[in-house]
Amino acid sequence: MNKTIDIIMGRRSIRHFTDAPVEKEKIEIILKAGMAAPTATNARDWKFIAVTNKDMIMKMADANMQYADPLRRAPLGILVCGDKLRTRYDFWPVDASAAVQNMIIAAESMGIGSCWLGVWPIEERVKNQAELLGLDENTVPHSIIAFGYPAEGEKFGVSRENRPDYEEDRVTIIE
Ligand SMILES: Cc1cc2nc3c(=O)[nH]c(=O)nc-3n(C[C@H](O)[C@H](O)[C@H](O)COP(=O)(O)O)c2cc1C
Repeated sequence: MNKTIDIIMGRRSIRHFTDAPVEKEKIEIILKAGMAAPTATNARDWKFIAVTNKDMIMKMADANMQYADPLRRAPLGILVCGDKLRTRYDFWPVDASAAVQNMIIAAESMGIGSCWLGVWPIEERVKNQAELLGLDENTVPHSIIAFGYPAEGEKFGVSRENRPDYEEDRVTIIE
């Protein structure tokens, strides 16, 4: 295949990280990758909050309530929000998801692991994150991504054994 396909196929969620910080220039590349994702009507209807402050990372993990431990162990968390003032036809959750995936793949290509933590559409998580970060009503927390260099023993860059690469019964090809 090629390097891009290898990175996509080898990605898996990483939930334990080393203490090494993610370098500022790499954080910027990750954010640029998010902003390079397609958006419906080119609305660019997202906002990004990059957090390296450990205290705030812990509070964001608390605000997400369940399954947020990967964030507690991460040196970087990025909250992707939808911007309701810019969105067209309410496509903002779709656009935010595309940005998240671009960011994850960009990080992976630089040796940085990640775990996507869902916020939207769980109302309590959305409310908690918005309150914690003092967001206005048009800025809707969508997803948090925990980023960091994979801890030893984490399987980084190898396909998951129990995840089939191809499931024929889920595909219809019309020729
Ligand atoms: C919308 C969304 C929300 C997720 N939320 C969480 C979460 O809260 N905590 C977590 O540990 N993983 C979360 N994940 C990661 C999934 O559990 C993971 O992607 C899935 O198990 C497949 O594993 P893989 O990423 O290694 O392929 C989330 C993934 C998505 C797409």
